[in-house]
Amino acid sequence: MQQKKQPSNEYRIRSFVRRQGRLTIAQNNALGKYLPQFGLNNSDGVFDFSKIYQREAPTHLEIGFGNGQSVANMAAAHPENNYLGVEVHRPGVGNLLQLIHKQALANVRVMSDDVYDVLQTNIDDYSLAAVYIYFPDPWHKRCHVKRRIVNPEFMALLEKKMQKGALLHLATDWQDYAKHMMRVMNDMSQFTNQAGKNQYSKRPEWRTLTKFEQRGHRLGHDVWDLMFTKI
Ligand SMILES: C[S@@+](CC[C@H](N)C(=O)[O-])C[C@H]1O[C@@H](n2cnc3c(N)ncnc32)[C@H](O)[C@@H]1O
Repeated sequence: MQQKKQPSNEYRIRSFVRRQGRLTIAQNNALGKYLPQFGLNNSDGVFDFSKIYQREAPTHLEIGFGNGQSVANMAAAHPENNYLGVEVHRPGVGNLLQLIHKQALANVRVMSDDVYDVLQTNIDDYSLAAVYIYFPDPWHKRCHVKRRIVNPEFMALLEKKMQKGALLHLATDWQDYAKHMMRVMNDMSQFTNQAGKNQYSKRPEWRTLTKFEQRGHRLGHDVWDLMFTKI
């Protein structure tokens, strides 16, 4: 069967806008000091995780990790797993590097790139044991819906990179996005919904309360978790 061609980088609709958020001095220092040690480069071709983490272990990916608290907490709670965080927002990358240093997390690597490029260039097929996308930008205006990262083309790319049995965990505080996520996932025969068809999952206790989830609470929003297994 012919593979659907991914849009070239030049024409791709981005799922983010580069926010100019100011780097704190500590974040800037962390970028300078720790990115060479814990950062991975998009220009390095397909990654060999066993070389990068210097062991054989399941590799989990968090996409758009914000300030990095969630990936840092998961990595601290599960030293037996490898974690890769991908985020375009530089202050967030600096913040995660600080957490990695403070908590001496040997099992986390960081990328400051568009995750589309990372998946297309660096991640081998069938190599990820879990993928987390927490509170992705909602792009709630009708004319912006096409920018949502959870869309059929992106999820098809992601699916190729996931191992059989891998977990895909999505969460959002926008009801319309939750429904959209459910529709996109229902159309993917390679995944089964852990909660049953069309059902949202109970929020797992281990999921970190992120900055954007807290913002959602302040706005009076509910939260929807979707947990799927690749079959
Ligand atoms: C609304 S924030 C949520 C951050 C965090 N997950 C949380 O819950 O606090 C979404 C994040 O996804 C990042 N993002 C969006 N599209 C991305 C992409 N294509 N590659 C990497 N990061 C992306 C944005 O920079 C932003 O920080």
